[in-house]
Amino acid sequence: MHHFHYSGSDLHCESVDLAAVAKLYGTPTYVYSAATMEDHFRRLQRSLAGLDVQLCYAAKANSSLAILRHFSNLGAGFDLVSGGEIRRVLAAGGHVKSSVFAGVGKTEAEIALALQHGIFSFHVESEPELARINHVAGKLGLKAPIAIRVNPDVDAHTHAKITTGKSDNKFGIPLKYAAAAYEAAAKYPNVQIKGVQMHIGSQLTSVAPFVEAVTKVGPFAADLKAKYGISYFSIGGGMGIVYREALASGQAAWWEAQPAEQRPLTPESYGAALVPLLQPLGLKILLEHGRFMVGNAGVLLSRVEHLKRGAAKNFLIVDAAMNDLVRPAMYDSFHEIVPLHRDSSRRALVADVVGPICESGDCFAKDRQLQEVGEGELVAFMSAGAYGYTMASRYNTRAMAAEVLVRGSAFELINARETFEQMIAGEKVPAFLK
Ligand SMILES: Cc1ncc(COP(=O)(O)O)c(C=O)c1O
Repeated sequence: MHHFHYSGSDLHCESVDLAAVAKLYGTPTYVYSAATMEDHFRRLQRSLAGLDVQLCYAAKANSSLAILRHFSNLGAGFDLVSGGEIRRVLAAGGHVKSSVFAGVGKTEAEIALALQHGIFSFHVESEPELARINHVAGKLGLKAPIAIRVNPDVDAHTHAKITTGKSDNKFGIPLKYAAAAYEAAAKYPNVQIKGVQMHIGSQLTSVAPFVEAVTKVGPFAADLKAKYGISYFSIGGGMGIVYREALASGQAAWWEAQPAEQRPLTPESYGAALVPLLQPLGLKILLEHGRFMVGNAGVLLSRVEHLKRGAAKNFLIVDAAMNDLVRPAMYDSFHEIVPLHRDSSRRALVADVVGPICESGDCFAKDRQLQEVGEGELVAFMSAGAYGYTMASRYNTRAMAAEVLVRGSAFELINARETFEQMIAGEKVPAFLK
């Protein structure tokens, strides 16, 4: 569910007319709904009632300072994967002390930064990394809290590029070697064993892989509790969101109309399946959702440049491009595209929706059925709140888009559109070329 809907003929985010946002801040612009994020956060919490839960919002999904602050205000910690993300949390006024630090290649400087700010725990991905964490903690005279990321070899049935818990993925230590890794950890003087972690992938649309992974790793977590007194189990794995009928899925009626066997994963079904498996462990449960928290809470606004009628097809050329939203080019992912102004008299159009970048990969949708929209009109790419802005680039020297946060009838720019001067600020022509 989310808070994007037509009010009359015009697409709104909460009570804000999105055309007004585009008029003020231009396009392409990301717009996020604070209410949707809060709703998703609270639903997830409610669905796991009965467990001691710490939600560590995965900052990689959307790490704008305002978004981090919003989740921090709601009580979230963070799942962080770089020194940059740690610094973002600090800049946003969030708590590193309730955050975890994941990633297969943490540098010594990043480990030191996390330790100095009292990270809740490191999610350790390999034995060499364990040695490095021990070494850095020793130099600082600190003890590093750790959990080992175990790779449960579970197929999450998601896109290959966002599967993380199979034995051929780079992540974690195979479950069969994990006991030895904990024995090694217990011998390090500057490491404190605190928990166990796993993560099986992103955009999971059924509860079965979560159940399989918890069933596989749960008994191991219980052994670790008995042996090392661990206090938490991080059951990472990202709940999926609705992309195909994204706009309609903002309405409760849409969910009710879905046949039970086709209904997308909800926090309620996730909780109903997992709470009975997790409760007997008596451990604190950490969650690391990113996409579910922000994905349907954001749209990308764009303006139509031209409708080009080609020999073989029509091309709707918009001012957003793959540098702004790379998911379709990178994962062949689907984003619903809707006009900001709905008009039943519009003709139907079948077109490829493309950006202005000089490569054929700059395509948001192929042969998409749309309502005809003309030059200067505005469209929204739905479900763009996660892995949108954070994966954007400056390819073709296109500036980073603006970002706006809506709450009720208020909206504010949370990230100004980048200027050309900002884009080239770190560059120079060396003297030997002058
Ligand atoms: C370790 C870890 N935590 C959290 C996430 C966030 O996943 P999602 O955005 O699907 O919730 C990922 C994504 O791959 C991840 O690898």
